[in-house]
Amino acid sequence: MEFDESYYKGKTAVVTGAASGVGLALIEELLAYGAEKVALADFNKENLEKHTARLSAEYPGRVKGILCDVTKESEVAAMIAGAAEFFGGRIDLLVNNAGAGLMGLFVAPPSSVSIAEVKGVKIQTNSDWERAFALNFYGALYGCREVIPVMRRNGGGQVINVISGIVFYPMAYQTMYAATKSALNGLTLSLRYEYWDDNIKFNSATPGTTATGIWGDTPAPQGAQTPKQSARRILAQASRNRRVIFGDDPDEAGAKNCFHPDYEEIPDTYLLEVARARRGGEIRV
Ligand SMILES: NC(=O)c1ccc[n+]([C@@H]2O[C@H](COP(=O)([O-])OP(=O)(O)OC[C@H]3O[C@@H](n4cnc5c(N)ncnc54)[C@H](O)[C@@H]3O)[C@@H](O)[C@H]2O)c1
Repeated sequence: MEFDESYYKGKTAVVTGAASGVGLALIEELLAYGAEKVALADFNKENLEKHTARLSAEYPGRVKGILCDVTKESEVAAMIAGAAEFFGGRIDLLVNNAGAGLMGLFVAPPSSVSIAEVKGVKIQTNSDWERAFALNFYGALYGCREVIPVMRRNGGGQVINVISGIVFYPMAYQTMYAATKSALNGLTLSLRYEYWDDNIKFNSATPGTTATGIWGDTPAPQGAQTPKQSARRILAQASRNRRVIFGDDPDEAGAKNCFHPDYEEIPDTYLLEVARARRGGEIRV
């Protein structure tokens, strides 16, 4: 995807969930486009240290790793303050990217349903729901709340909140994922207009189906793109301040028909096929 990479030249950027996958690729692309300084925030200490050291060797003085569990408001506050300090007071871009896929069963299934046997799939309790919202929703909310005053003080900035194609095509056995990412999309698109006149841009971004650790032990679906492809497409569309950024073509196509009453047969047919395949034990997307 061609775009003017110089949009990011000289900018400062912090990315959460940056120690692997899409988040790490966003950091690498930003540095390659000439970002002045970047901060990687993640709670995986080993990966964080490894990638911070590797990137610092390549870009001396321009990279900082910040250990941060985004589900803890105080850690997000400290992370934003630490990034601002490293950047000399200014944060141009925050990407709230940390998140997880959260597959599971809404209630206990009848014995004929074999998905219960699929590794890692469990019946989701209230505490699972709370943890899901803590990570996929509140983590980003805390980031937005902390960064807005910093950006306002400096005359503006940009926040990209990473949602998922599941917002537009909510799949069976992923109720927690669909609900948390839909909530995050709602938050983001409201903030977009609340802070437009403060020159703070808000964008929702789906990464598209991307081969990362999010798939766990299951192989990424055939045709999944690389994290670099996803990151480049997100940053290209963010440079144009797109309201919702679609990380791949299927996400963009799906969003065109998902909620339109004239086309409801399309998502109904597809999502029912996915649900039945998953019910039979096949993890289809
Ligand atoms: N890969 C895909 O196909 C895909 C599709 C749609 C949406 N997404 C979204 O993209 C984002 C990035 O996911 P990914 O695919 O790169 O997965 P990933 O598992 O490779 O990366 C997630 C990163 O988030 C970090 N993280 C998890 N919990 C954290 C916490 N509490 N605090 C701080 N960091 C935490 C992990 O350590 C990891 O480095 C997620 O929000 C995910 O929901 C991914």
